[in-house]
Amino acid sequence: MADTTVYRASTTAPVNIAVVKYWGKRDPKLNLPTNSSLSVTLSQADLRTLTTASCSATYPASEGDSLLLNGEPSDVSGARTQACFRELRARRAALEAADPSLPKLSTFPLRLVSENNFPTAAGLASSAAGFAALVRAVANLYELPASPSELSKIARQGSGSACRSLFGGYVAWRMGSAADGSDSMADQVAEAAHWPEMRALILVASAAKKGVSSTSGMQQTVATSGLFQERITRVVPENMERMEKAIAERDFAAFAEVTMRDSNSFHATCADTYPPIFYMNDVSRAAIRAVEAINAAAGRTIAAYTFDAGPNAVIYYLEKDTEAVVGTFYHVIGGEVEGWKRSVISGLKPTMSLDEGVASLLKGGVSRVILTGVGEGPEKTDQYLVAEDGSPS
Ligand code: DP6
Repeated sequence: MADTTVYRASTTAPVNIAVVKYWGKRDPKLNLPTNSSLSVTLSQADLRTLTTASCSATYPASEGDSLLLNGEPSDVSGARTQACFRELRARRAALEAADPSLPKLSTFPLRLVSENNFPTAAGLASSAAGFAALVRAVANLYELPASPSELSKIARQGSGSACRSLFGGYVAWRMGSAADGSDSMADQVAEAAHWPEMRALILVASAAKKGVSSTSGMQQTVATSGLFQERITRVVPENMERMEKAIAERDFAAFAEVTMRDSNSFHATCADTYPPIFYMNDVSRAAIRAVEAINAAAGRTIAAYTFDAGPNAVIYYLEKDTEAVVGTFYHVIGGEVEGWKRSVISGLKPTMSLDEGVASLLKGGVSRVILTGVGEGPEKTDQYLVAEDGSPS
């Protein structure tokens, strides 16, 4: 009898924000990086992608593989998504070859439905959570015995930073040296529970799609920046070592210094790209000045800024310093801006005042904030975005 089952699996996956940045590819096709990187996985209560992967012999072959993202059909014909599908299918096909009693899921079209729990207007790159969820969901659907590190090699081919979203806590992407990419994968440096007090305040300075994409920006940097060589040969290896030590010892001051220096180093190589690339704007620079003022007033380093390929600031701090860090930004930016959590801000007193120019840039330029913290890796769920009959639900 023909198999009419709709096979389904659902997972969530988190966003991660690097504290030692990935910037540069040594092999654009396999998406192999020029340097290792390290990130903090953020809590899925605030930022996550939920993906259901399904497949069935009843799905018309003419339809091919498909992905519905936030309710809109999304193109899956790109080389990156195709690479992920190909690798996952090959692993499933190997299982089916070894055990002929298994249903031939590798031959069925895939239907994926995916949703983010944060608005696109948050201006956050969601490709890391998106590809991590896609790979984890299909791996669950295919019942692959692969470890998160194995799966990270597949997610890496979707988007480099996605490989780090296969784990929770503190995560390294080891650049590896093999030409085929077999040793370029993520591993967990420490669980979220090792240092659970880590918090992040995200200041959204622009929700617009970034001017120069990471993919093309990093290619231009590799091709034209002299400073970049110094970064990948000396700066990043040192930062990786210092960062792993800071995390092992829960040394926030060291964590913060490496985070800020590495962000500065990455943006310096962008400025050294020819023609130069500028991701930060006046609001970003005001956020840097504010963090410096907060640290100076505290007499120790209690906050650390970092910026990806866009103007939004991510500020790491420890829970015990919420009043000095979040309180200062809250009183400057104002409560009318979306995203402040009552549970975090209630009772926070202004502990210091900022320079007027810095304050007015932040007040005028921050359109939304996100309060979150370190969190867990992908989680299986029985919430399905595809109904038992295969239709989106
Ligand atoms: C600045 O992972 O988006 O956020 O591999 O081309 O998809 P592709 O790039 P992507 O680059 C992220 C760059 C970064 C730093 C980081 O996350 O490490």
